[in-house]
Amino acid sequence: MRVLLAGGAGFIGAHTSVALLDAGHEVILLDDLSNTSAIAAERIAQITGKTVELVVGDASDPVVVAGVFDEHGPIDAVVHLAAFKAVGESTQKPLEYYSNNLDTTFALLRAGIDHGIRSFVFSSSGTVYADPADLPFTEEATTSVDLSNPYGKSKRMNEVVLEDVARVHPDLNVTILRYFNPVGAHESGLIGEDPSGIPNNLMPYVQRVAVGALERVGIFGDDYDTPDGTGLRDYIHVVDLALGHVAALEKAQPGFAIYNLGTGRPVSVLELVSAFERAVGRELPREILPRRAGDVAASYCDPAKAARELDWVAVRTIDDATRDAWNWQSRNPQGFATA
Ligand code: WQD
Repeated sequence: MRVLLAGGAGFIGAHTSVALLDAGHEVILLDDLSNTSAIAAERIAQITGKTVELVVGDASDPVVVAGVFDEHGPIDAVVHLAAFKAVGESTQKPLEYYSNNLDTTFALLRAGIDHGIRSFVFSSSGTVYADPADLPFTEEATTSVDLSNPYGKSKRMNEVVLEDVARVHPDLNVTILRYFNPVGAHESGLIGEDPSGIPNNLMPYVQRVAVGALERVGIFGDDYDTPDGTGLRDYIHVVDLALGHVAALEKAQPGFAIYNLGTGRPVSVLELVSAFERAVGRELPREILPRRAGDVAASYCDPAKAARELDWVAVRTIDDATRDAWNWQSRNPQGFATA
């Protein structure tokens, strides 16, 4: 199948591109490179030994998107990973977040349907689940658009749009993938997470402390009602997550479906930092800070539906993820800019 990945040069997009190429599919990446580098596309080609077409452009622009379909078609499927994703920033720039994160979907859906795509896979988030009483979250757990930030709300709003569009296009496969916390890197060390500025998320922050670019890991709260007092999350190796997209595309049936992509195993902040220290072989400076606004104590999923229907399970461990993340970061201390 020939797959258009919007946001295909980003952290999840690059790993998904490798997984698709390894599985014998063709990829076209559409990316504005606002939070990644064209080097990512070169590295995807290097890892796979295959051709990678990169179109540098804005996936929220209908003219750009229609041009990709006209010039790079026929395209069988769209994987939509093009989004602004900084939770804190989204509270400061709500209009930019709603606009970008919805306009991309509108442009990709319109052009895709006009050009006869069979599948549309959307990158959503476990952040849409609302009620801790539902842990571990199944796909039927309560969701809410009343989330603490525009980023999370934009994900849920997209899901609502896609469900309605799927209803009037019964031949289309519309698949929502709700990611839990993607971490790790490709085992080659050639691609990995490379956020611009100071990372918001735990794992890339720890990676930068380990290379000495940041001073110490700040642990946001050790007084949660969890076994060690720090937050619990479902950290999923990005290569497993990428393989989840391949499974979704290969197994998808016409209609609308939602799948959690996670491990189902909660890991605390302290456990993640300790795993990273094992990978690096030394202790990392850390300090306990107050809780971060908007954080929940625990978020982890029940991934049984994806196992049952997509024949997909996350097999990589937290030690695999920290080893691969450290391999990437130590070889590329400044991320893609190292090259
Ligand atoms: C994980 C844990 C923090 C940073 C968010 C979005 C989600 C997804 C990923 C993506 C929490 C703690 C963090 C730090 C810390 N979106 N922490 N020190 O908040 O679960 O998920 O990002 O693109 O939709 O909601 O991920 O990595 O920020 O935090 O102690 O410097 O680490 O409190 O317990 P989160 P995270």
